[in-house]
Amino acid sequence: MQKLILFSLLFLILDAKNEFISEYEYGQMLYSNPRGISCTNCHGEFGEGKVIATYKQDNQEITLKGADIRDLNLTQFHKALNANHTIMPRYYLVNQEVIAIYKFIKEKNRRLTQPKIENDEEDLFIYSEENNESDLEPSLNTPTTF
Ligand code: HEC
Repeated sequence: MQKLILFSLLFLILDAKNEFISEYEYGQMLYSNPRGISCTNCHGEFGEGKVIATYKQDNQEITLKGADIRDLNLTQFHKALNANHTIMPRYYLVNQEVIAIYKFIKEKNRRLTQPKIENDEEDLFIYSEENNESDLEPSLNTPTTF
């Protein structure tokens, strides 16, 4: 019975954890839906930059392209998002939102080239769970002799 309560509690805690969106998801949400036209339309899924339009002017093919924003630093990001541009709209995002988008772009590109690093907290949790099980096993399986 005690075990059952413990298990239900455990699932409740895990469930509650799932209700909060991660910082990555928050950044992703803002990047694709930033209270205005999506950044992905011009900067692509990874921030690599994308062709917005091509047109002819004086018999010359002109290509409009969103900038590659993968290798910028946070200061450059802030500057760009707090300025008026000719093509890029003004968004009026707060600092926290700019940081979230910046981190999302960096993390998304990191995941592309590097194998997934498990969350430290999760690792610790699984580790301690396994430990508890093996701690219990000997006392459950070996008959107690007095
Ligand atoms: C309509 C297309 C368009 C959209 C939508 C757009 N951008 Fe841009 N962005 C550009 C273009 C084009 C530039 C290059 C500067 C200029 O001429 O406007 C740029 C520049 C930038 C830069 C600076 C690049 C540099 O090299 O300094 C950053 C950072 C940036 N955008 C981030 C974003 C983010 C984040 C969003 C969404 C919140 C967004 N952009 C939405 C077109 C767009």
